[in-house]
Amino acid sequence: MQTLYSTLLEEAKHMIAGQASVTEKLQAICNLLENKVPHYDWVGFYFAEPEKRLLHLGPYTGEATDHTVIPFGKGICGQVAESNQTFLVEDVSAQGNYIACSMTVKSEIVVPLFVEGKNIGQIDIDSHTLNAFTQEDQDFLETLNEQVALLYL
Ligand code: SME
Repeated sequence: MQTLYSTLLEEAKHMIAGQASVTEKLQAICNLLENKVPHYDWVGFYFAEPEKRLLHLGPYTGEATDHTVIPFGKGICGQVAESNQTFLVEDVSAQGNYIACSMTVKSEIVVPLFVEGKNIGQIDIDSHTLNAFTQEDQDFLETLNEQVALLYL
């Protein structure tokens, strides 16, 4: 996995440094991760509208979701908007405050996106496998988001 994640980070860095629009770059990153990591089944970015305490869905890859707007505090995503901390969920069925997008989702990881110390959004990844995510995923995605943040400087 280590080698795969190093390769994906390099590919993402190239995409981020490229000429495409921010939206196109985020979409390309979602596609890359969903295509290359077997246990990533849905990959998307949410962005905060702090004045209204809402998250809005941005580019994503995977099944369409009804949850395009999520209030701060609601679900795993909404909790990360408030906690500013990565939330790794081994088993979504064991979570009281969880928004189900699809019955096929078994585990999830949400990693905040910081720009100059401010939590502006997050990357959200769902897996159809129970307990799919490890510390390695967390480290990878936190490093990835440090690169994604460069798009907003
Ligand atoms: N499960 C998330 C909602 C977003 S979907 O996974 C795309 C949550 O509980 O916040």
